[in-house]
Amino acid sequence: MVQKTINIYGARQNNLKNISLKIPKHQIVVFTGVSGSGKSSLVFETIGAEAQRQINETQDSFVRNRLQHFGIADVDKIENLNVPVIINQKPLTGNIRSTVATITDIYANLRLLFSRMGEPFVGYSHVFSFNHPGGMCPQCEGSGLEKIELAFLEDVEMICDVCHGSGYAPEILKYHYKGKNITEIMKMTVAEAIHFFDHEYLQQQFQLLMSLGLDYIAIGQRLNTFSGGERQRLKLSKEIDGTNHIIVLDEPSSGLHPSDTEKLIALLNDLVDQGNTVIVIEHNLEIMTQADWIIDIGPLAGDKGGELVFSGTVDDLIKNPGRSFTAFYLRKYLGLF
Ligand SMILES: Nc1ncnc2c1ncn2[C@@H]1O[C@H](COP(=O)(O)OP(=O)(O)OP(=O)(O)O)[C@@H](O)[C@H]1O
Ligand SMILES: [Mg+2]
Ligand SMILES: [Zn+2]
Repeated sequence: MVQKTINIYGARQNNLKNISLKIPKHQIVVFTGVSGSGKSSLVFETIGAEAQRQINETQDSFVRNRLQHFGIADVDKIENLNVPVIINQKPLTGNIRSTVATITDIYANLRLLFSRMGEPFVGYSHVFSFNHPGGMCPQCEGSGLEKIELAFLEDVEMICDVCHGSGYAPEILKYHYKGKNITEIMKMTVAEAIHFFDHEYLQQQFQLLMSLGLDYIAIGQRLNTFSGGERQRLKLSKEIDGTNHIIVLDEPSSGLHPSDTEKLIALLNDLVDQGNTVIVIEHNLEIMTQADWIIDIGPLAGDKGGELVFSGTVDDLIKNPGRSFTAFYLRKYLGLF
């Protein structure tokens, strides 16, 4: 039997007032409410914490100790929770060498391509590796940067003069694929790369980045140079392969221009089409209007919040505003008064 809702009974975390509610699965569900009303208490500290507890029960202590830690949620029972992917506003994890290519599967596939079809031929083996110590620039160890220590002043970072910032060892640059070496490939934008490579899997990866509006990004661009909105979309691209996940986002629209908000909405719809449940905490009215289901927590902050003010479709909320401040702003946004 298909379980169509996640059922929460007696949630009392932080300011939540013993609330019970059902969250529809396989839809875009937006949690709304004023700052301090209890959205994070419900979504992260109750649902997220319970999901984490369930994962913990099935993992050994080694894995358990390395998972994100939530406390024990103050809730009676949660039904039909499958394992969520929790994404928040934290930056993507990765080291200074992380690029678009390394956090996706693009890099691994390029390596394979170079070992199979690169020139000169290196043989059908795994010896060809850009991030193996032999493939890394010996001077900067792959970071592309050199730290210069100055007396009495803060250290400064300079582009490495051995690899010119690419992070690759000079020997690796003699290998070419279709006339280009790895640094030349890493300088290509996503839009250029999609024409250069004819391998289906790589094309799919580049297409995904294109659909996220990241066509102008160089595939070797380092993650620490990404803007907040770019990073958020890249994070989502890593989730988009999954199905039947619960994807939780805390204000994904923050920092996005209206035209990027449209792309974000398209992406959320893609995630749902692929069988996921998307739970979003949002203050952005455009995203609220695109929700399949709205859950309003409030009506105010702290002790004056923590209640379930509304749960239903956007249309219903507009027609029956009740005590919901969100309804007031949605009506105003839609020009209904
Ligand atoms: N650990 C805690 N101890 C005591 N009170 C807490 C704790 N965490 C949150 N609260 C309180 O619970 C209430 C709800 O907080 P919560 O973080 O859920 O709000 P929110 O709706 O997510 O707000 P925002 O939109 O600003 O993120 C707030 O009044 C907050 O101060
Ligand atoms: Mg919050
Ligand atoms: Zn170097």
